[in-house]
Amino acid sequence: MRFSIYRYDPESGARPRMQDYDVKLEPADRMLLDALVRIKIQDDTLAFRRSCREGVCGSDAMNISGKNGLACITRMADLREPVVIRPLPGLPVIRDLIVDMSQFFKQYHSVKPYLINNEPPPEKERLQSPEQREELNGLYECILCACCSTACPSFWWNPDKFVGPAGLLQAYRFIADTRDQAINERLDNLEDPYRLFRCHSIMNCVDVCPKGLNPTLAIGKIKELLVKRTV
Ligand code: SF4
Ligand code: SF4
Ligand code: FES
Repeated sequence: MRFSIYRYDPESGARPRMQDYDVKLEPADRMLLDALVRIKIQDDTLAFRRSCREGVCGSDAMNISGKNGLACITRMADLREPVVIRPLPGLPVIRDLIVDMSQFFKQYHSVKPYLINNEPPPEKERLQSPEQREELNGLYECILCACCSTACPSFWWNPDKFVGPAGLLQAYRFIADTRDQAINERLDNLEDPYRLFRCHSIMNCVDVCPKGLNPTLAIGKIKELLVKRTV
């Protein structure tokens, strides 16, 4: 099978280039990650991240024939030749398919992605009703792979100002949590022409999320809460 893979080694001083690989796949090589591991046996200078190979750690996100996704859960049977692999768009490339995620995580941390509750903790746990817990479905499952934020034009243009879909999904995950007491501070933190309102509901984020999450819906709910707060 033929692959065309983005190569860049800043230490070599050479410009980035695409490199072709012809690889004989074995029947067990069902996923793109299996194929990349086979390519690495052929050329051990190729660099990419991976860990769980189960769609859980989020580390092997890359641009696969034009669409962001996780190599470990992308079936080879669904790809056409040549398979064109590039690093996630919009982030600085460290080497080959490895990008610098600092800006992505900076935005994620900026929404305080943890429970804020200053009441003394109860003996066992902070309880929720099944309905209240239900509200968190579709929010807590994010694996921080960055497929969504790096598919978002608003994040490409303003990665330092726009929180991006992954960070905003996490912001809403805590806004929607009945155990959290910081809803107003969280909304204040996002009430800004860039941090939240740079989202123009183009929905690229929804299209690429490997966990089937819907950041656009969460962003819409935050916008709604901000509007309600002002009327
Ligand atoms: S819906 Fe908003 S966050 Fe999602 S890709 Fe479009 S602009 Fe970005
Ligand atoms: S919302 Fe989906 S695409 Fe975005 S970081 Fe989370 S898991 Fe990845
Ligand atoms: S290797 Fe962990 S998500 Fe793909």
